[in-house]
This record gives sequence, C-alpha cells and structure tokens, in this order.
Amino acid sequence: MNNGILYGLSLGPGNPDLMTRRAWALLQTDKVWSYPIRNAKSDSYALGIVLRAGLELPAEHMPLIFPMTHDAEKLAKYWLRAAESVLEKLQAGEDVLFLVEGDASTYSTFGHLAKTVAALDETVIIETVAGVPSFNAAAARVQMPLADVDDTVAIIPAGYGLDVIATMLDEFDTLILLKVKPLLDDIIDLLTERELLPHSRFIEKAGTPEERVITNISGLYGEKVNYLSLLLVKNPHRQRGEMIRGCRKKTVLKNVS
Ligand SMILES: C[S@@+](CC[C@H](N)C(=O)[O-])C[C@H]1O[C@@H](n2cnc3c(N)ncnc32)[C@H](O)[C@@H]1O
Repeated sequence: MNNGILYGLSLGPGNPDLMTRRAWALLQTDKVWSYPIRNAKSDSYALGIVLRAGLELPAEHMPLIFPMTHDAEKLAKYWLRAAESVLEKLQAGEDVLFLVEGDASTYSTFGHLAKTVAALDETVIIETVAGVPSFNAAAARVQMPLADVDDTVAIIPAGYGLDVIATMLDEFDTLILLKVKPLLDDIIDLLTERELLPHSRFIEKAGTPEERVITNISGLYGEKVNYLSLLLVKNPHRQRGEMIRGCRKKTVLKNVS
C-alpha cells in the first residue's frame, strides 16, 4: 500500500474568503484533518477559519499539541509525538491535511511537522499549499502598500529586540514586525523617537470577527494585545543611494549583531 500524502494546507489569516481554491477543494475530500492546538483544552485558530467557512469537523480529525514554549527539548518532544501520529495515518494509506493559519511556508508549525515526518520516513510525499500570509492581508486591510518601485521590505519577529529593529528601520523602507506582543511598549517608544508613529499601523486578528486595526498606536501603550498581532512600519526618512542606470549606487547593510 502506498503512503498517504501530507498537505500543509494554508488557510489565510482568518477570513475564509482568503482561502485558495486549492485549499477549498482539498477540504471537500475525505482526507483526515489535523490542526495545531496549544494544549489539550485550547481551541485551534486554524480550525476556526474552516468552521467559519461553513464546513463541519469530519469524524476523522486529529488535534496536535504544539505548546507555546521556547524550551527546545520540550518542543522537539511534542513535534516528534505529532509527527508519529500523522505518520501512522500516512502509513495506513490515508492523506492528512494539516490546517495552517496564514501561509504554511511562513513561520508555521507545518515546517517543523513536515521536517520531523520526513526524518521518520523519507518516502512520505509532502505538499505545501500556498496561502495568504497575515501581513499581506493586513497591508491590504489598511491600504498600505508593502513595497513600491525599488522599496525594500523586511519581515522580523519582534523578539530580536529593539537594537535590531532600530538598525533595520535604517535599512528598509517597510518593516513587518511579527509577534510584537511582549515588546509592544518598547517598540512604541522607538517609533515615537523616530517620528514613525504616523507611518505605522497595528493589526490584531486580521480577517476575523475580532479584528482590530489601530492607527493611533501610542494609544496601545500598556495594553496586553493578542498574540496574533503585527505592526507595519514605513520609514519615509530612509536614506538611499543615488539611482544610476536602474541600480542604487550604494546599499550599505550595517552589521546586525
Ligand atoms: C507563528 S507566526 C504565523 C505566521 C503565519 N503563518 C502567516 O502566514 O501569517 C504568528 C505571528 O504572525 C502574525 N499573525 C498571524 N496571523 C495573524 C492575524 N490574523 N492577524 C495579525 N497578525 C497575525 C502575528 O504577528 C503572530 O504573532
């Protein structure tokens, strides 16, 4: 018997209308659904998108626990456990859809799951179904183009810290800051200092009924925001090299330590 296929099924950031036709078509089949949860009692954000699309949870479904921790050893244990349960289905010839919020190639648990499954059985076929990432949906929502002409764009998890964010503000026209929750007040201070608050937007739970779009970001100071929130920052003060025959003369990237 052939192994089943493991699909990384991107669902977009929250609004079912942002699902691709490919994702929708796969959800109409009788493949097994699996989805990430933080602990045995928590809901799955990814599953929520599919349920809001009007689909019903099939009898055959597998919640997989991926705890929110930076403990590498603990994480590896959970990834292995999740991969083993998925592999059991695949080796029984069943296809498995792993439901992913946003895009499966962008900071997604699917990457870890796919790698761990492939390490256990290199014959397994894996397909990643592309999707709309949160920041593209957020940019569209706030009418803020991420890049025009030869603009540069960087995506960083805010956890790299303020020094890195400050350096990147000098080097990029647009910063997409993900996972901003723990550092939000410090980032607001930095953006205030750089006079970038008017060029920044905060979006929380983009595409869901609880979506929040905040233009006056300083008003968020001291607030505990949701994990699913991001900042889009434009830096209109960025220095650029002179344009010569379509190329920028000098693009010096400072060392970021
Ligand atoms: C682990 S990453 C997942 C990224 C996701 N795969 C994507 O393509 O957007 C989680 C971070 O993405 C951002 N994020 C994901 N979904 C979001 C949403 N619906 N609204 C706002 N930010 C979101 C937040 O910054 C969050 O901390």
